[in-house]
Amino acid sequence: MSWLPPGPIDHVGIAVHELDTASATYVDLLGAVRGHREVVEGQGVEVLFLELPGTTRLELIAPLDDRSPVARFLAKRGEGLHHICVLVDDIAAALAALQEHEVPLVDATARPGAGGTRIAFLHPQALGGVLLELKERPR
Ligand code: CO
Repeated sequence: MSWLPPGPIDHVGIAVHELDTASATYVDLLGAVRGHREVVEGQGVEVLFLELPGTTRLELIAPLDDRSPVARFLAKRGEGLHHICVLVDDIAAALAALQEHEVPLVDATARPGAGGTRIAFLHPQALGGVLLELKERPR
């Protein structure tokens, strides 16, 4: 029995400096199709989802300014893999279960994500250095 239900991967997040230039590479190389694009003010980023037909999605994330956590990520590590996102049915219940097991969290409560969703991040210490995002399955 796991602490989280084994939800499907919703998307893989990739930090980039600029969305148009970066997405062109994914379109040319992988046949990705540009989808939903949105400024997420609360996180200081603009995101662009790329559909990979028949599989999952990539979320390109670019900082709006130097204060964004993603700007700090880029300064430290450069462009590249940023997080994995899995779907959960009930994000409050998932966070409560994780806290009960003392799993380190970035977000103790859910916050607004792209597309009107509710999301939360676990601390990378929880998963071998990988940042994990939980996203509540839209109802
Ligand atoms: Co994400």
